[in-house]
This record gives sequence, structure tokens and C-alpha cells, in this order.
Amino acid sequence: MKVYLDNNATTMVDPAVTEAMIPYFSEIYGNPNSLHTFGTASHPAITKAINQMYKGIGASDKDDIIFTSCATEANNWVLKSVWIDKILHSDKNHIVTTEIEHPSVLSTCKFLEDQGVKVTYLPVNDQGIVEAHTVKAFITEKTALVSIMWANNETGMIFPIQEIGEICREKGVLFHTDGVQAVGKIPVNMQEVYVDFMSMSAHKFHGPKGIGALYIKNSQHLTPLLHGGEHMGGRRSGTLNVPYIVGMGQALEMATTNMEEKIAMIAAKRNRLEDALLGALEDVMVVGDRANRTPNTILISIRGVEGEGMLWDLNNALIGASTGSACASESLEANTVMLAIGADNELAHTGIRLSLSRFTTDEEIDYVIERFENAVKRLRAISSSYAIVQPTAGGATLACHIHH
Ligand SMILES: Cc1ncc(COP(=O)(O)O)c(C=O)c1O
Repeated sequence: MKVYLDNNATTMVDPAVTEAMIPYFSEIYGNPNSLHTFGTASHPAITKAINQMYKGIGASDKDDIIFTSCATEANNWVLKSVWIDKILHSDKNHIVTTEIEHPSVLSTCKFLEDQGVKVTYLPVNDQGIVEAHTVKAFITEKTALVSIMWANNETGMIFPIQEIGEICREKGVLFHTDGVQAVGKIPVNMQEVYVDFMSMSAHKFHGPKGIGALYIKNSQHLTPLLHGGEHMGGRRSGTLNVPYIVGMGQALEMATTNMEEKIAMIAAKRNRLEDALLGALEDVMVVGDRANRTPNTILISIRGVEGEGMLWDLNNALIGASTGSACASESLEANTVMLAIGADNELAHTGIRLSLSRFTTDEEIDYVIERFENAVKRLRAISSSYAIVQPTAGGATLACHIHH
């Protein structure tokens, strides 16, 4: 059996999404900016996709949703353009973010620091989230932007976006959220939160890779990152990627239709897997309260088992998992989110992320439970460090916080 449990890195394109996209490669392929019918033939599909996006996130018709090449572009766009629009020519010089943002936010913040911007990287609590009062405490009159993710890619922990948005509104500070791990996974309604900008990515909810979008509240000004042929009302130039736009709209519509049912179905499988692993294995820790986590995610630490070794064993059993975010999974560094939530260095090397999707089956979960336990036993048996901390060997007990 082959089991894919790395859906926070990327997802399979739903076959119905592929089907919706196909005509726009070789039948309706004109440039939507062209005035002839080859070009205009794509307009209804673009309009449909835009409407699917508006509905999928509860945006109002006053808001803009601009397609981008990925969420990395959307994150770069907000941070760099707020710098241009609100910092370069004003007395504001400060951005607030967190220590555990995706690298597309963190690296852009580092770049902005090199340009003289002051950036505060807020620490997370033992649940792996930043509390709203912490955000409030760090906003000053110099703050131009707060950028905080809706849900974390490694832990699945959901941040208090509504409360943080309220604080930003009170303080008159722009608020950007990286919504990549939330949109299509949990209910997201822009009418219920105060968010100026939100980044999204289709390949996290069974759409194609290489297409993202930025939500812009009240269509407010944001200097374009890409100048050129004035596409998308001049907000983001570049010939519209019609098949991918169609795919993103279709994928979001499918993800958000009967969403509560989908969430319950995925969470039931995730919970069964998590309970089985916590029940069968000693000295393991799952990060974060389940009730406040995206329904598909488990980040589990296994004392005495290097994450990479575990990945190797799982991969040999044809199970795809991850030690953290996809971008970092080739490096042998400790899991930064686990360090941020207070795990010691050893434990932070043992994080394995299992992320399910609506395509994950019960048979797959059974198979993973069996193979996961076998892998842990095998690796612990050959681990010198685990033997030392075993109560029987050294009398030491392990401090593991197990959150249900
Ligand atoms: C939280 C988060 N933000 C941003 C991104 C980047 O998305 P994209 O692959 O569309 O650039 C990812 C993808 O891993 C992510 O998980």
C-alpha cells in the first residue's frame, strides 16, 4: 500500500479539478486580453473562478481577489509593497510577525530588515500560537503592518485571527494573514474577521501548484510587485494563467462545499491515528490542542527517534510524511516550530508531521498505524540515546506534554 500523508506540503489535484482545467489548455487558449473571440472565450471561465473564490472565503464585492503565481508571491507582495507604500516615505518603520511564519514571510522580513525596517518576531506559547494580547503589547505608533498566519503549516495550530484583527483595527495598523493552511481546510469568512490582506495557495486544497491569490479588503491600494501589461486591473501584470485560475476556483468551491462534513470526516481519521499512536507508544508528544488544530494535521515527536530516520523507514513502507515544512525537509536542522514552543533540542529533532486529506482512507490509516509503530520500535531498539533515557536503564522519566 502507498499512503500519502504530506498534504500540508501539497495535495493531489482532484480529478474533477483537472477535468475543469483541460479545455483551457488547448481548446480555449486565447489570451484573455485579446479582443478577438479566441481571447474573450475564456472570460466566462475567469468570471466563474473569481466568483468561486469570493464565495469560498466570504469576500464582499468591494474586496479584490488577485491571482498570483503562488502564495510566496502574495506574501512577498504584501510585505514589500507595504514597505514601499507605508514605510519608505513615512515615519513608520516597524512590522510585527511571528517566529514561526512560513519562510516566504520570514525571508522577506529578513530582506526588509536589511533595508532598515524593524521587525518583531513574536514568540509562540506552548500551544504553538501567538495570543492576541502579545500582538497588542508589541504594536507601537511606528508599526505599519502585522503579518500573522491563520494556521501553521507544521503543527496545524489555528491562530486567533479574529481577535488579532480587532486589535489591528483599533490601533489603525494594516493586518496581513498568510491563509495558506486555513483556506479550504477550515471555515474562512472574510466578513467575520478584520483582515486587510490574505494570501492563498491552490495546491494546498487539491488545486494545481503554481497559482495563488491575494485577498485585498475594500480593494485598497497596494503598489504592484509586477509591473507590465496592466493585467488584473493593473494590480498584478502577467498574462492570466486561465487553466490554473479555473482550477483554483473549482478546487476552492469543492473544498468549501459541505465543508463541515469534510472536516468531520478528516478529523475522525486524524483522531483515530493520533489516539492509536499516543496509546501504543511511550514518550511521544503531539503538539497543540486538537480542538484548535486544522483537522488534518498531527505533529508528533518521538523521544529517541531522529525525524529523518523515521521518514526513511516510513518511506520504505511507501508512506509519505514530513519532518516539517517541505522547504526545510531536506535539511537536518531541528524543527524550528518545536524549538519555539519550548521543546529541547533532542525532541525538536524528532518531529514527524502527518497530514491527511479528504482522499485519505481508513485502510490507509490502519496501515500507517501498524508501520509507524514498527518503525518507532525498530529505531528505538538501535538508538543509543533512547536506551540512556529509558527509566529501566537510568531511572530517568521523561517530561512529555501530551495535548489532546
Ligand atoms: C503557511 C504557508 N505559507 C506559504 C506557503 C507557500 O505557498 P506556495 O507554494 O503557493 O508558494 C506555504 C507552502 O508550503 C505554506 O504552508
